[in-house]
Amino acid sequence: MNFKIIRFQEHGDPRGQLVALEENKEIPFKIKRVYFMYDTLKDVVRGHHAHKSLEQILFCVHGSCRIHLDDGTETAEILLDKPYEGLYIANNLWREMYDFSEDAVLLVLASELYDESDYIRDYDEFLKFIGKKK
Ligand code: TYD
Repeated sequence: MNFKIIRFQEHGDPRGQLVALEENKEIPFKIKRVYFMYDTLKDVVRGHHAHKSLEQILFCVHGSCRIHLDDGTETAEILLDKPYEGLYIANNLWREMYDFSEDAVLLVLASELYDESDYIRDYDEFLKFIGKKK
């Protein structure tokens, strides 16, 4: 499945930690959009979609949450709980975000501007799109 957890360099010193991310360097695409989620209520599941061409890197910069990924054949559950760890998600992966801690801040770097036509919000349609429909 086309995802990976990337451990980014921490520039730590006696004052604390700092992580720096530049497009086409630490981040393997041009960053066109940044958004973040916070104050997510307990038991909420967000996402429930795939993207036709968008690539993203997700960071839980505070607190923790879990990400469910599905490529139509396999699934994976990833815990994000370290601010220096990013989850790269390629296109054509179904994703759901859940188990948000009360203090969770989920930051997303995206390769494209917001475009509703890039979303696949129906799971059967997703399977059909990637050619895995039974
Ligand atoms: P939504 O797609 O439901 O978020 P998620 O799939 O992560 O649960 O987005 C919630 C709202 O925010 C929806 O009205 C669209 C809007 N939105 C933007 O305007 N720009 C963006 O970049 C994103 C991700 C969402």
